[in-house]
Amino acid sequence: MFFLAVSLKKIFKILTMDKIIILDFGSQVTQVIGRRVRELNVYCEIHPFNKFPFLTPDSSCCGTKGSCKSGNGKSVEKIIPADVKGVILSGSPFSVRDKNAPQIDLSDFFGKIPVLGICYGAQYIAYNCGGNVEASQTREYGRAELTIAKIAKSKGKSGKGNNSGDSIFNGIPQKSFVWMSHGDSITKLPKGAELIASTSTVKNAAYKINNTFPVYAFQFHPEVFHSQYGGKMLENFVMGTCGCKGDWTTKSFIKSTVAELKNKIGDDHVILGLSGGVDSSVAAVLINKAIGKNLHCIFVDNGLLRKDEFEEVLKQYKGMGLNVIGVDASEKFMAALKGVTDPEKKRKAIGGTFIEVFDSEAQKIKNAKWLAQGTIYPDVIESSSVNGPSAKIKSHHNVGGLPEKMNLKIVEPLRSLFKDEVRRTGRALGIKREVISRHPFPGPGLGIRVLGEVTKEKLQILKEADAIYIGEMRKYKTTLPPASNGFVAEEMAKEKAVGNRKKDCTISLYDAVWQAGTILLPVKSVGVMGDERTYEYTIALRAVVSNDGMTADWVHLPYDFLAKVSNEIINKVKGVNRVCYDISSKPPATIEWE
Ligand code: XMP
Repeated sequence: MFFLAVSLKKIFKILTMDKIIILDFGSQVTQVIGRRVRELNVYCEIHPFNKFPFLTPDSSCCGTKGSCKSGNGKSVEKIIPADVKGVILSGSPFSVRDKNAPQIDLSDFFGKIPVLGICYGAQYIAYNCGGNVEASQTREYGRAELTIAKIAKSKGKSGKGNNSGDSIFNGIPQKSFVWMSHGDSITKLPKGAELIASTSTVKNAAYKINNTFPVYAFQFHPEVFHSQYGGKMLENFVMGTCGCKGDWTTKSFIKSTVAELKNKIGDDHVILGLSGGVDSSVAAVLINKAIGKNLHCIFVDNGLLRKDEFEEVLKQYKGMGLNVIGVDASEKFMAALKGVTDPEKKRKAIGGTFIEVFDSEAQKIKNAKWLAQGTIYPDVIESSSVNGPSAKIKSHHNVGGLPEKMNLKIVEPLRSLFKDEVRRTGRALGIKREVISRHPFPGPGLGIRVLGEVTKEKLQILKEADAIYIGEMRKYKTTLPPASNGFVAEEMAKEKAVGNRKKDCTISLYDAVWQAGTILLPVKSVGVMGDERTYEYTIALRAVVSNDGMTADWVHLPYDFLAKVSNEIINKVKGVNRVCYDISSKPPATIEWE
């Protein structure tokens, strides 16, 4: 009973933790706003512009009430949950003047909660509240110098106003650089608005409407790295204007999630598919902390993992105390791939076989009621984005159909976390560095890196070449900056060492690269070894840096490293007589070749 009371208290705490809602009007950088808010240790959620999580009247216990007209003209009560402390309206690819521009009812928020409009958000407020928005002569894109307007803050003894900037600019010099990206301009401020900052070309760069709760509007993007004090402006809004406490930390997340899982799952049994990747590993350790041996993990060997990876990772999982079974199904996967050359068909064959194998293993676990998944926040946002499911996401990224087939309830403990937050959580849970900072690896594995039909012989060649490449990459020391994934970037950022790295401050090349792998090309070419002519395969090496895999740059790998790898592969891997390095970025290329 005591335990239940403690758990409920913890759950209540997370449910009532300060929260900022970001309404997404479709900007490419909406997620970055979310990242910036989370960096302030404030929980935030991104919702499509027309899906603000209002409470329905009967589910509300407390909150801020308002009323507005629904589509059929009837008045519907909309209640802002009490834990929501502020709302941010994002940018958008639309112009507010477009007929089909995304629309919201600002009266749902004005006077009830602090509001910050960014770019489209700022224009939308101006356009709908008595201001004017017009097409700019030229689209403004890039850095601009912002000058904070002096405003009369309070009257001193002399009766004269005390001139300084608005509190949203506390701690920011009067002149600083911000990032602009807009095709429209606010040519007239909305009713009751006060100008608080300008640039030389954009007079109405920032304004404020004084209300019971203030409304701020920035024409520029404070969330992007290039806005010098953008983070501080967001901090002033979130912590100052909205009064958030900043108590959402990895530690508090783990504590409340474990309590929530215990309460939700009780004595039920849960099944989870481990992939060797960060997300499923962290989800497993978190659920294991909550329910121990009632979590049953299944790790399937599809034969398409890296050399020796299945055995090594299985050992690591057991070392973490997970209740895990390893299933060698490589023959089944090879059979499913026989004669298949089309990349999408290969993915379907691999996905379908995985479901079959996983389902048959899961059947052996009696009384399982839940299927746990390592879904993370970007997957959730993408599938509910303003334009429907994002065109960028490939259908094959998830093994579709698994939950429906298994008829189990779903539990997704990482649903609210960004990737780096997942890593931090994993680290706080004591998961080893090798697991947390592993490069991303596609679900279909080497199946899409053997171009064309996958055969055992080709897979063997690719595994050997890949092991040499990745092994050398781990050994090679470099002064290149750390990749955005993994520990090193974060640790260096903490020590502020990224910018001032000394020549002798080296990291492994593996930690400087976001993702690397080898590809076996489906062509043979002529070579010569000793006195003999050879006719063998070519291996392509790929190494990229990226933030999220959506765009990527090829890495300028050192020549001596490339020379060593090429030499090792050609000398040691039978069946290869040529090595190439892929120097294409994404777009227009993709990271994988299939
Ligand atoms: P592309 O090739 O689309 O890859 O530039 C972007 C990122 O996604 C990974 N990727 C996949 N991951 N199933 C996955 O789980 C897939 O079918 C798949 N295809 C690509 C790729 O490795 C990179 O990290």
